[in-house]
Amino acid sequence: MAWLREAGPYIEHFRGKTFVVLLSDVARSELTTGRLVEDLVLLNSLGVRLILVQSTRHAINAHRSAGGVGSTFHQGRRITDSGLLSDIKHLVNEAAHRMQAAFVRARHRNQSQVQLVSGHFVYAKPLGIFDGVDHQLTGSIRRVDTAAINEQLDLGHITWIDHLAYAPSGQLYNLASEEIAAAVAIAMHADKLILLGEQDCLFDQQGARISELTLSDIASVEEHQPSDIKLRLTAAERAVRGGVPRCHLLGATTDGAILTELLTTEGSGTLVTQEPTARIRAARTDDLASLLHLLAPLESSGALVQRSREKLEAEIAHFQVVEQDGRLLGSAALYPLDAHSAELACLAVEPEQGGETLGTRLLHAMETRARAEGIETLFVLTTQAQDWFTERGFSESSVDALPENRQALYNFQRNSAVLIKKI
Ligand SMILES: CC(C)(COP(=O)(O)OP(=O)(O)OC[C@H]1O[C@@H](n2cnc3c(N)ncnc32)[C@H](O)[C@@H]1OP(=O)(O)O)[C@@H](O)C(=O)NCCC(=O)NCCS
Repeated sequence: MAWLREAGPYIEHFRGKTFVVLLSDVARSELTTGRLVEDLVLLNSLGVRLILVQSTRHAINAHRSAGGVGSTFHQGRRITDSGLLSDIKHLVNEAAHRMQAAFVRARHRNQSQVQLVSGHFVYAKPLGIFDGVDHQLTGSIRRVDTAAINEQLDLGHITWIDHLAYAPSGQLYNLASEEIAAAVAIAMHADKLILLGEQDCLFDQQGARISELTLSDIASVEEHQPSDIKLRLTAAERAVRGGVPRCHLLGATTDGAILTELLTTEGSGTLVTQEPTARIRAARTDDLASLLHLLAPLESSGALVQRSREKLEAEIAHFQVVEQDGRLLGSAALYPLDAHSAELACLAVEPEQGGETLGTRLLHAMETRARAEGIETLFVLTTQAQDWFTERGFSESSVDALPENRQALYNFQRNSAVLIKKI
């Protein structure tokens, strides 16, 4: 229940958005594929337009080593000869059938009418000769047929693209699935590119998860990453430079990785963006100066109660802040009143951040935090933002409705409106 409530605002936000998902074949079991497909069908039923791009890299590697033949690579690109191409055709076919089978099961279970549609959505050209090395039937993208993809998405279908594509001559080429995913995301003006792979996320040298990266950070972390991450990072970088606002690196074997990343504040992978995004976190004492700076004009205008530096320091554990690129853009505090109710206070956002819905995001984050602490009723005492809160589910209440300990502290001079919300 709590999880569904947390997902609520995201669900509305994602309706009509286009996501490209790179499917890794690192785990090909019926169970893992089935769960992933169920999650994709769920996203589709929430109104997300989905384009899937299939990788068969692990199957190709396994097939080659089982046959005792390796692959030839040049600068990380596999050279595809006619023998390898015919093996890949077979493996891609297997992947297509595995996906269709999982879709039929998910459709049946969810009583959904969605179709998984494949077609000639991408056209290829030969990669050619590099450093004197002929890449033979290894290709690169010539064109993405966005009209054909849109036609299927408009019908409510999910599109599925493998990494084999034809040149106009009818010759088939083997392309890198990461390159296709990035090119399709750019051409389709996708809102997100989700890149599934072996590893869940990037780790820094201390082994801590890197939850967010901007383009300018990539160079400093790339070197120490495994090849699976490097390939996805290159695709993410290309997509973000090409205008895709957000790229997520997620683990293909982590159950529910896509839903956790998209529908919860926590997430499980690494997000790559052009600019740092605003992040909500617990306040620390080293935020005090910025916090005082943010709150001072609002205290002067009477929108917020005056708090001294000492009081703010003593109460810092109650505060959450919004930070972007080292700048503090907003704050909110949660004061427990009794076992099941709390007061939301000090909700404030830098005025020039208008249009970013930071206030709403912060409110949702505070509601999530309150629910996690067992709070069922949230009070707000406000002088200048009554409408803002009522538009977000609060209703008018009275001083008498407050727990007695808070009633005793009510400042009749400020005459704040008391608002209430069951969360
Ligand atoms: C209230 C506040 C946190 C909202 O933050 P925000 O980031 O601007 O909010 P959002 O972007 O999510 O929402 C913007 C919408 O709310 C409206 N809005 C902003 N402040 C409002 C207010 N005080 N009353 C009514 N509506 C308000 C905006 O006009 C905008 O409406 P639109 O979408 O129709 O254009 C912010 O305006 C603020 O810091 N106010 C001063 C402090 C305050 O009074 N806090 C409440 C006391 S606890």
